[in-house]
Amino acid sequence: MKVLGIETSCDETAAAVVEDGHRIVSNVVASQIDIHARYGGVVPEVASRQHILTILPVIKQAVSEVPWEEIDGIAVTYGPGLAGSLLVGVNVAKAIALARNLPLTGVNHLEAHIYANWLDPASSKAKRTSRRDSEVRFPCLCLIVSGGHSDLLLMTGHGQFEKVGRTRDDAAGEAFDKAARILGLGYPGGPAIEQAASSGTPSVPLPRAWLKGSHDFSFSGLKTALWHLAHGGEIPVADAAASFQLAVVDVLVTKTIEAARKFKVEQILLSGGVAANKALRERFLANSPVPVLVPSPHLCTDNAAMVAACGYYHFQAGQTSGYDLDVVPSLSLG
Ligand code: KG4
Ligand code: ZN
Repeated sequence: MKVLGIETSCDETAAAVVEDGHRIVSNVVASQIDIHARYGGVVPEVASRQHILTILPVIKQAVSEVPWEEIDGIAVTYGPGLAGSLLVGVNVAKAIALARNLPLTGVNHLEAHIYANWLDPASSKAKRTSRRDSEVRFPCLCLIVSGGHSDLLLMTGHGQFEKVGRTRDDAAGEAFDKAARILGLGYPGGPAIEQAASSGTPSVPLPRAWLKGSHDFSFSGLKTALWHLAHGGEIPVADAAASFQLAVVDVLVTKTIEAARKFKVEQILLSGGVAANKALRERFLANSPVPVLVPSPHLCTDNAAMVAACGYYHFQAGQTSGYDLDVVPSLSLG
């Protein structure tokens, strides 16, 4: 089954075709980063207008090598995200579903991030004999670390989630973005901090919020400590970036592994833009007592292949949406 995925929840206009929930046939992402960078963050009105301009060329490119007759269904992100941005994707998806008489399914962006773990990281040309399906074992613990969320979810089967931890203030990606702004490193902050940290040493002791007895996270105290550090001293930016990154990685890895032990999961699944961070990936792989799955870096950040993969499992479970599908900007998971 080939599913066309559409993603417009934030500042990436994306479309992809994925076969059987794992083989990427095409994966097109038009980033608006350059447009928003001058404002230091995403401007919602600008984002939705840009999606309108870009969505049709992006979809055309995604289906350029697949005849429409071979597309079996459409999956679209309907939340969480920016209302005006989500509306563009959802309405285009509904229009195509109606015109082509294809089944439609609305996908939760957070669930889609998790399903990036089912995607074959190789390109469309590569053939793969084993299904990713056989590689993921339930129950697993999913850590979603994106610009808007830091959630720990226990996944017991396809579409079955129980939230066991969340951030009490800033999301991990948001913390990276704010830290980069404090250090004058630009937007988006994650890659900028990672780059700066690579030439620094984590020599500055920064606080970690362990929140003992809970699987929740908190990053606002760390952000404030970094602000005082940046405004008060002679610390080189690279060292401050390395110290900040280490503090975030320490907390995410330690607390996730603690939860993995408690819930006796088979695996840990990482996802979301922050999971592209090399230090985080390496620490997880080195320290986890259970196998850790992590998508390729370009499949951690927003894309539509993960939406198509997630949509495939919705279709398998008979979950389709009607033409009354609406955006839910504050949608949660678990
Ligand atoms: O998942 P994503 O692309 O969009 C949301 O759903 O939010 O995540 C974007 C977030 C941004 O905050 C960005 O700074 C962060 O992921 N990010 C990173 C890295 N790449 C992206 N954070 C740390 N290290 C990275 N390499
Ligand atoms: Zn995302």
